[in-house]
Amino acid sequence: MIRTYSAGEVMIDQQRIYERAREIGKQITREFKGEEVLLVGILKGAILWLSDIIKHIDLDVYIDFMSVSSYGASTKSSGVVKIIKDLDVPIEDKNVIIVEDIVDSGITLAYLKKYLQGRGPKCLKICTLLDKPAGRRTEIEVDYIGFTIEDKFIVGYGLDYNQKYRNLPYISYLKSSDQ
Ligand code: IMP
Ligand code: MG
Repeated sequence: MIRTYSAGEVMIDQQRIYERAREIGKQITREFKGEEVLLVGILKGAILWLSDIIKHIDLDVYIDFMSVSSYGASTKSSGVVKIIKDLDVPIEDKNVIIVEDIVDSGITLAYLKKYLQGRGPKCLKICTLLDKPAGRRTEIEVDYIGFTIEDKFIVGYGLDYNQKYRNLPYISYLKSSDQ
């Protein structure tokens, strides 16, 4: 029998995501009072989350993006990180917050953190929509976490499976036809 996939039920709805983004946006505003921050969105999964967060940061805030390769067409990490698109602006002496969709193995962010740290930012933090601690293969400190989730392959709200389901306005998981 051929196994097919679809998105499962709603795990976290849009309202909860937006409220959490507001809390984190306010926290960032407090912590960086009187300073500027640069949000570095990791394409493509983080764009919906970044757009929620930024609306709640009441500071001079800038945006840039990076694109890194991770999974290809699989649900398991290859463990290899490749930079597809680098930053457009220098980050020396800047307050940088990497905005990511999900921390799973932690390999992507551990690599990115080290890579960007080498450019001498004033401070470098990580803000993720989701944290999946069960998948962790390397230690990584995450500063702002939207939601901690169980060990499922997540889709929706920017997260994809084979580039699909990014448009779901809620967080769901990948369900196989034999489940
Ligand atoms: P990590 O390097 O294993 O932490 O994974 C980082 C990247 O893998 C994330 O930015 C996602 O793009 C992708 N990823 C990890 N887990 C999931 C998932 O459950 N659903 C969709 N993408 C995922
Ligand atoms: Mg990603």
